[in-house]
Amino acid sequence: MAMRRNVLLLGGGGREHALAWKLAQSPLIGRLLAAPGNPGIAAHAELLAGLDILDGDAVAGAARSAGVDLVVIGPEAPLAAGVADACRSAGIAAVGPSAAAARLESSKAFTKEVCAAAGVPTAAAVTAESPAAALAHAAAAPLPLVVKADGLMAGKGVIIAASRAEAEAAITALFAQGQRRLVLETFLEGEEASLFVLCDGKTAVPLIAAQDHKRLLDGDLGPNTGGMGAYAPPSCMTAERTAEAMDRIVRPTLAEMARRGTPFQGILFAGLMLTAGGPMLVEYNVRFGDPECQVLMPLLEADLLDLLWRTATGGLQGAVPRWRAGRALTVVMAAPGYPAAPQTGALVAGLEAAAALATVFHAGTARTAAGELVSAGGRVLAVTAVADDLDAAARLAYAAIDRIRLPGAQWRTDIGWRERHRGNAPHQARGEKEE
Ligand code: AMP
Ligand code: GLY
Repeated sequence: MAMRRNVLLLGGGGREHALAWKLAQSPLIGRLLAAPGNPGIAAHAELLAGLDILDGDAVAGAARSAGVDLVVIGPEAPLAAGVADACRSAGIAAVGPSAAAARLESSKAFTKEVCAAAGVPTAAAVTAESPAAALAHAAAAPLPLVVKADGLMAGKGVIIAASRAEAEAAITALFAQGQRRLVLETFLEGEEASLFVLCDGKTAVPLIAAQDHKRLLDGDLGPNTGGMGAYAPPSCMTAERTAEAMDRIVRPTLAEMARRGTPFQGILFAGLMLTAGGPMLVEYNVRFGDPECQVLMPLLEADLLDLLWRTATGGLQGAVPRWRAGRALTVVMAAPGYPAAPQTGALVAGLEAAAALATVFHAGTARTAAGELVSAGGRVLAVTAVADDLDAAARLAYAAIDRIRLPGAQWRTDIGWRERHRGNAPHQARGEKEE
């Protein structure tokens, strides 16, 4: 029988709850530890209180003293801070790139440079190091102009400026917020999809794709958020498009990273625009998406721990993960005031009743001293259902939400609309309704 492995999972959001939920199902799991975790993760893992997950030496020390074989790093901040490097230096396997390779997410200017060197199709861009340079470019660039902060901005650093005035305002605001460099790029037209790829430094294995809903309100209106819901797999990401994205985008990027002496090992999240000319790269992230992970994990039939162990130890060659048939859909329940100023501390109830219909991943929850479950973040829960088709998954997820009580909660009622619209397309094409 294969050896059991002790795992330390870093992070405390819905993505990490989904990872913990799936890791706990592995026949290979020994001890499962998590930091900081959350009350949902606590159902599957022992929480390490007080560990600073941005401190690589502290993480490696805690992992060593707990006999951890594998550290799984969920969010981008510890990766950018070099926590994977610290673990590997201490002889502990880790899933996640070095700080040098995490620059694919932490610096958009760096990613543009790598794409140019590797011939990866992406929006044409210039990097501006001063307000004057950025404004000069914006004065003549085609509109809409996409204005991006270079560094990590938790999803708030991208402005799609439809007019010159908007572009100027965005440039001025981002420099005023302390950004030193902006990336200004052309607008790509098409449908977006997120492709997730396991990379062991040599071999890249695509997982399935997902589609996220970044805007707060139905109809893709309102402010950008970390993601209000997701579904998988999107039918627009066909096997051919996946192969094309691997051949033209992911593999050339990985080869360029290896050539630079900073091979990428971990989960590469390619944000794609499916344009008329084929898939183009919008951006990379160096981790699973949140809430995309909450729809990938329930569909994964293969053993996650085995796949992550192989990712961390150079053993992915020949891996072909199995996926169950059907679709998964997750709806995020967010706190009132999210994303600008989420109000936390509200009682959360009804989760047991909801669990009969859907898997409820905790994204931002906490327990009070009295043991009550309360909201503790902008995104509070990710309510996830799996069914044979997307309509059935949506019915289950929304019926589960009906059973949950979270005062003032906000959620979108149209998660999966693109795909569900595609499903209905034959009727519309026959002109039975509307117009
Ligand atoms: P990011 O935070 O870089 O993922 O960007 C947020 C969102 O902005 C993306 O998911 C896209 O919807 C949009 N976006 C970013 N860059 C472009 C682009 N060049 N063309 C069109 N949309 C873009
Ligand atoms: N849902 C998008 C992200 O995780 O960046």
